[in-house]
Amino acid sequence: MSEDDYKTEKKKQAASLNSIDFDARSLAELPSPMLQWIDQNGFDIVFVCSNDGMIQYISTSITRLLGYLPDEVLGTSSLTYLDSCDVPILKNRFKSVVEWPQRFHFTALDNRGKHIWMEASISLIEEEDASYYVGVAKDVSDKKEIEEMMFRSEKMSVAGQLAAGIAHEIRNPLTSLKGFLQLIQAGISRKEEYYKIMVDEIEKIETITSELLFISKPVAENKEPETIHEMLQDVITLLYSQARLQNVQISFEKGANSRLLCDRSQIKQLFINLIKNALEEMPNGGKIDIRQREEGSDCIVDVVDEGPGIPDEVLAKLKEPFFTTKKEGTGLGLMICTQILEKHHGALDILRNDTKGSTFRVSMPITPI
Ligand SMILES: Nc1ncnc2c1ncn2[C@@H]1O[C@H](COP(=O)(O)OP(=O)(O)OP(=O)(O)O)[C@@H](O)[C@H]1O
Ligand SMILES: [Mg+2]
Repeated sequence: MSEDDYKTEKKKQAASLNSIDFDARSLAELPSPMLQWIDQNGFDIVFVCSNDGMIQYISTSITRLLGYLPDEVLGTSSLTYLDSCDVPILKNRFKSVVEWPQRFHFTALDNRGKHIWMEASISLIEEEDASYYVGVAKDVSDKKEIEEMMFRSEKMSVAGQLAAGIAHEIRNPLTSLKGFLQLIQAGISRKEEYYKIMVDEIEKIETITSELLFISKPVAENKEPETIHEMLQDVITLLYSQARLQNVQISFEKGANSRLLCDRSQIKQLFINLIKNALEEMPNGGKIDIRQREEGSDCIVDVVDEGPGIPDEVLAKLKEPFFTTKKEGTGLGLMICTQILEKHHGALDILRNDTKGSTFRVSMPITPI
């Protein structure tokens, strides 16, 4: 449609709306030209699916947002338009829902295969002979772009903050390497034994530097099946030097090794932020317990610290961007954690410990095999 045609069409629509005399109290009572206007001009996609996910109704806004015509979508499965990574997780989540409406994020595929980040709110409407899902979905790509920018800057800031501890961790193996090289230069025997120790020391340096590079590298989101133990172990390795400098012990209690469909780099960043916060609350030493277990269809990880705990007035503000009580903090850490969990259909709960400190509880859906 040309711009002139479009303007004429809009004028016609407006004129027909003005001529309607009505006294409607609900959407169902609105005269049909008005319903049509809402359908054609809404920014959100409104849809109705049968309980097996087949699309029964979809507003014409789908053409503007995803490029499909309503007719080509009607009668097809709603799952066809989702990124394949989201399908098993959402299917599983819908099975156990008790409270409606449900709000969640997902990635839709437009008619050219491009990924569009969307937010939806869905309700289950139960009638005598059938039940339906009714929902609205909107494009939140702009919001996501801003989040990505914050995400990248937080990544770099975390890498910078960890660098001091890591430099320290690398200095020890370097000192011993230098010592062995000097011994070999001096013509010492038992060289083979020293070579083995030297290789071990170099491997230590390799592990820690590659972890640092991994977390600071800006990578596109890439969800793959991963196991929780390995990701947590990598994070503990990375933060070990900082913990040792502060005389903090990190313990790791493992439950069943849950499989998660996730972006490895993001999940690591989530736990780095939580453990780093715990460390920052314990400048004079103590203990951080990482307790992982499976509960129903969720993998739960508790990060338990022995810090001062969180006062009630602070609790409500914790997940807000830029809220910080630290001189050097950006106040983005927990907000990033919440976003990462949103993308992974998980949640973050903050609990007060009975004795001292707090527990940051992460729950994420286990990927069904
Ligand atoms: N384990 C914890 N115990 C007590 N307070 C905490 C804990 N974790 C976070 N907080 C509080 O929440 C605030 C926000 O944390 P967040 O991680 O979002 O930002 P930050 O740590 O201040 O800065 P950044 O993470 O960007 O370096 C912190 O400033 C602190 O007051
Ligand atoms: Mg923090």
